[in-house]
Amino acid sequence: MCGIVGYIGNREAYPIIIKGLKRLEYRGYDSAGAMIFDEGELKLSKTKGKVSDLEERAEKEISLSGNIGMGHTRWATHGVPNDVNSHPHLSNSGNLAIIHNGIIENYEPLKKELIKRGYTFKSDTDTEVLVNLIEEVKKNEDVKLGKAVQIALNQVVGAYAICVFDKQRPDEIVVARLGSPLAIGIGKDEFFIASDASPFIEYTSNAIYLEDEEMAIVRKDKPLKVRKIKDDTLVDPYVQELQMNLEQIEKGGYDHFMLKEIYEQPNVIKDTYRGRLHANEGIIQMAGVEDNLEKFLNADRILIVACGTSWHAGLVAEYIFEEFTRIPVEVEYASEFRYRNPIINKGDVLIAISQSGETADTLAAIKLAKEKGAFVFGVCNVVGSSISRETHAGAYTHAGPEIGVASTKAFTTQITVLTMIALRLAKAKGTLSNSDFHRYLQELEVIPEKVTEALATNDVSKTIAEKFKDAPNCLYLGRGYNFPVALEGALKLKEISYIHAEGYPAAEMKHGPIALIDELMPVVVIAPKQGHYDKVVSNIQEIKSRSGKIIAVVTKGDVQVRELADYVIEVPDTSDALSPLLTTIPLQLLSYHIAVMRGCNVDQPRNLAKSVTVE
Ligand code: F6R
Repeated sequence: MCGIVGYIGNREAYPIIIKGLKRLEYRGYDSAGAMIFDEGELKLSKTKGKVSDLEERAEKEISLSGNIGMGHTRWATHGVPNDVNSHPHLSNSGNLAIIHNGIIENYEPLKKELIKRGYTFKSDTDTEVLVNLIEEVKKNEDVKLGKAVQIALNQVVGAYAICVFDKQRPDEIVVARLGSPLAIGIGKDEFFIASDASPFIEYTSNAIYLEDEEMAIVRKDKPLKVRKIKDDTLVDPYVQELQMNLEQIEKGGYDHFMLKEIYEQPNVIKDTYRGRLHANEGIIQMAGVEDNLEKFLNADRILIVACGTSWHAGLVAEYIFEEFTRIPVEVEYASEFRYRNPIINKGDVLIAISQSGETADTLAAIKLAKEKGAFVFGVCNVVGSSISRETHAGAYTHAGPEIGVASTKAFTTQITVLTMIALRLAKAKGTLSNSDFHRYLQELEVIPEKVTEALATNDVSKTIAEKFKDAPNCLYLGRGYNFPVALEGALKLKEISYIHAEGYPAAEMKHGPIALIDELMPVVVIAPKQGHYDKVVSNIQEIKSRSGKIIAVVTKGDVQVRELADYVIEVPDTSDALSPLLTTIPLQLLSYHIAVMRGCNVDQPRNLAKSVTVE
C-alpha cells in the first residue's frame, strides 16, 4: 500500500511526480505529498485527500521548478489520514526528506530513544521516526546519507520501500527495499523511482526491481550501484525490459477502469491461454508446469493460499483440481495459514495466487512453505513482482495492469490459468477421459466469445441495479463451482457500493441465513443448467415462499428458474467446471452499476488499496 515516486535528472521533476502518483493512486489514496528541490531549497506540499487535491495545493504553495523530487500517495497505517501525517516527512533539522511504503514495526522504542535524545515529532507516523533515526546516525557516526540509511535500516524491524533525500547532498536519492516493491527506471542521465513501472513507461523501457534487503544510491550521471543492506556487498542487478504500454494504463474511453477491465476479459482470457492451449492438437503446455511436472504429479496434496478475490479463484480451483486430477486440495487464507503452524510436508505443492504479486500475507505464506521444503508455484499477474520472484516456478495470468481496486479480469484469468494446470495434470495422470479432456480444451478455447455474450447482459444488469441500488443488504447463493462465485459476487458488491452482502452455498440457507429473508431482501442466485440445477431450483423455491426478491443468473434459454425469479440474467451454456468464467460477468456488472448509481468511487473505494503490502 502507498505509492512512491522519485525523479532525478534534467527534466522538470514535478510533472513526472504528479502524473506518476496518479498512476499509483490505486495503491492508496487517503493523502498525498510531493517534495521538489531547487536552488538549495527543499519545497514541500502535502495534503489529506487525493493526488488531485495535492496538485491544487502544490500549485498554490510551492514553486514547482526543479530537477529532483519525490512524491507519495498514502494508505494510512500509523496515524489518521491528515495533512501532517502525509509524506514526505522531514527530519528535525529539515535537511532530510523521506517517503515510505511499509511499516516500521519497532518504531515505538526507536521513537522513545530519539525523544530522549531531544528529537520532537509532528506526526503520528512510523516514517517520521525512521527519517530522524537516519539523521541521528548521520550525525553520530559522521557518515554520508547512504551509509546512514544503511546503518539505520539495520536497526529497523518491518517492511519498507523508501526514498531519502538530503539537502546537503542534492545530487542523489537513496532508495532501499524490504517487503515493499521498488522499481528504478533507467534513462540517459536520469533515473525514475517508483512502486511499479507505470509512472515511467513513457520515458524508458529499462528498469531494475530492487530485491528485499537491497539499497541503491541514485545519481543522475553515475551508473547505478546496488548493495546489500546487511553486509554492504555489491550486487549485479538484472535490468528488465518493460512489457507495459501506455494504453494499458489509461481508461480508453470508459468511465472507470473497472468497467474497462470488465470489458477486457474476452481478450485477456485469450492472452492468458495463447501459446499454451492448442485445442485442435489436444495440447496444453505451460513452461512452469512442464519443467516441474513430476513435482505436481507426485504431490501428496496441493495447498492453495491467497487473499480476497484471489482466494475465491483458489476455491474454484479446488473444485476443478479435485474433479480433474483427484489430487487432494486445501485452500486457505494466506493470513491464517502463515500464523497457525500448518502441517506442510516436502511432498506438498503450494500454489500461491496473487494479482499484484505483492500481498504481504501471501508472500509470508510462500516463505513458510519454502522453509518447510514444499514446492511453491505462483500464479501472478504482475510480471517481476515479489511473489513471482519468491516462488520456485509459476505461470503468469496475462491480464495486463489491473488498476480498478476491485479485481475483475484478474479473477477470470486466474481461473483460466488454474484450469489449464488442472487439465495438464489430468492428462498426465489419466484422470480425465480422453474425450472429456478434448471437450474441455475446446470449451475453454471458445470461452472468450461466450464472455463477450455474457457482457451483452450489461443493460439487463443496469436495469436490475436501478431496482436494488438502495437495498441495505444482499445475499448471493451458489452451489459447487458457483459457490465461490457467490462469495466473489458478494465481495464485489460490498467493496465498491458499501452495501452489506454475504455469499453462501445455497444449501446452507436453512442453517441460519434463511432467517434474513423477507420481501426487502434481494437474493442473487447463480443457477446455471449444468450445476446442481434441481437442488438450486429447490433453494430458490424456499426463498420465494418467504417473499425474497430473486435475481437469478441462468443459462440461456432457461425456463424453470425464469418462472420463479423476479429477474433473470442469461449467460451462454458451458460445462459446469467452466461456468464461473461466465456467471461472474453479470455479477461484476451488477455491482459496478449499483456502485455508480450510489455515487461511489468505483475505482478507488474507501479504505481500500490495490496492493496490500502490509499484513
Ligand atoms: C477484491 C480484491 C482483493 C484482492 C486481495 C488479494 O476485489 O481485489 O480482495 O483480491 O487483496 O490481492 P492479490 O491478488 O494482489 O494478492
